[in-house]
Amino acid sequence: MPTSSEPRQITIFDTTLRDGEQSPGCSMNLREKLEVAQALADLNVDVIEAGFPITSLGDFKAVREIANTISGSTICGLARCRNPDIDRAWESLCQGDDVRIHVFLATSAIHREFKLRMGKDEIIHRAVEGVKRAKSYCDNIEFSPEDAARTEADFLCQVVEAAIDAGATTVNIPDTVGYATPNHFAGVISDLINRVPNIDKAVISVHCHNDLGLAVANSLAAIENGAKQIECTINGLGERAGNCSLEEVVMAMQTRSDHYQVTTRINTPRLVPASRLVSSITGMLVQRNKAIVGRNAFAHEAGIHQDGMLKERTTYEIMRPEDVGFTKTDLVLGKHSGRAALADRAKALGFHLTDEQLTKVFEDFKDLADKKKDIYDGDIAALIEHQDTQTVDQWKLVTYEIQSTSGKTPTATLTLSHGDQQCTKTMSCGDGPLDVLFRAIEELTGKTVTVTDFRVQSSTRGKDAQGEAIIEAEYNGRIYRGRGVSTDTVEASTRAFLNVINRIESGTTEGQPGATT
Ligand code: KIV
Ligand code: ZN
Repeated sequence: MPTSSEPRQITIFDTTLRDGEQSPGCSMNLREKLEVAQALADLNVDVIEAGFPITSLGDFKAVREIANTISGSTICGLARCRNPDIDRAWESLCQGDDVRIHVFLATSAIHREFKLRMGKDEIIHRAVEGVKRAKSYCDNIEFSPEDAARTEADFLCQVVEAAIDAGATTVNIPDTVGYATPNHFAGVISDLINRVPNIDKAVISVHCHNDLGLAVANSLAAIENGAKQIECTINGLGERAGNCSLEEVVMAMQTRSDHYQVTTRINTPRLVPASRLVSSITGMLVQRNKAIVGRNAFAHEAGIHQDGMLKERTTYEIMRPEDVGFTKTDLVLGKHSGRAALADRAKALGFHLTDEQLTKVFEDFKDLADKKKDIYDGDIAALIEHQDTQTVDQWKLVTYEIQSTSGKTPTATLTLSHGDQQCTKTMSCGDGPLDVLFRAIEELTGKTVTVTDFRVQSSTRGKDAQGEAIIEAEYNGRIYRGRGVSTDTVEASTRAFLNVINRIESGTTEGQPGATT
């Protein structure tokens, strides 16, 4: 790639709400999707892929609501190259000010033969028809030849040329199964630039999956070879091993701008708040040593490193923690802190609270401050997220009492509310206090699940830290994840279990996916 003095601006296309949401247990309800979309807009993401409208009523409503309310980013909806998909995508986007339709069709020999049972000519025909139909609705059209990285080079060039001729303004080259390596993928992109005659009429985008742990490396190799858009997700969420991680790829380009000679519009101090929000909403924890947003990403343990840091920060730090949104100290508030200080902290953490929400969070904050001396950022985030869950959850925990003695069957009395109704169940069974409480919840709600994972961790530090419980459970072949927070770990676990039940209920009413990629 010839270098010029002006750095190229790379378009950041976020697909957390579409590809990210496709990972098992990561489905979000409408309110959660709106919160994530707002966090993405605060990050200055250029394009937000808000969903795949044909797949469910929930996805349709989310794309429509996001297109109508979120400003500052282009809002995109996904569709297969089929008329009903494209019409539905447009129906959800049509009232938005700045929207894009993204159509896709698989092109690799494996997909043609086994999935689509179509020959090359039919693939080109369908791709062209799909792009044309989308173009009849709006100007901004993206086309993706799914599994492009495993598609024969000549055929990929033909499809891309035909899609651009039909009106595609962005051509996205997916490595759908994470098979590519950096040199190979660089070759795919430069081949397209050298061989597709009308390639200058479209932006080249890349969409890399992380099955071999190479999604970020492959995306960067594509950028070095002329790609101008990267598709990525917060925390690298996505099908199987996930997608290219937004925070990693953005910080790689920013930190090594000397090498890549590119910029993005991303407001990098919003990266940690966005990561935290997505993690708490989906229940997908961020590994401690995850690059950029992991809790240990800027922790220096070795004495030699600490010594070096004290002498000169750059001896061991290539980025400043505050540049990605870690606050210098996260010990923030205590018993005597006021509402304004809380509002300030909540804002810095990336939450948009109404007056009414702030009042409720402030009440909980005061209760927590009575139980716990130091209130950290993690505590505040947990309080706000807990409030959020409470406002939409159908089933709410009213009270419980347990008697548990080692070697004896435990007994629990649990009261839940559902709307105006309250119901109570006393049970004596199970292996321990949590087992009996979970069974009582199942009895009262009429939903029986299989718990597939259960973790409790502290949200902050200290013996009085709040416990955060995450439960993953299977119901009717689908995975749901629930989260609960409290200074009492039994209560946190009970709330997490109840959150799973509430997610099952809201999933049922919002409709299940009817088609996936
Ligand atoms: O991985 C993939 O190929 C996709 C397409 C829909 C872009 O997600
Ligand atoms: Zn994908």
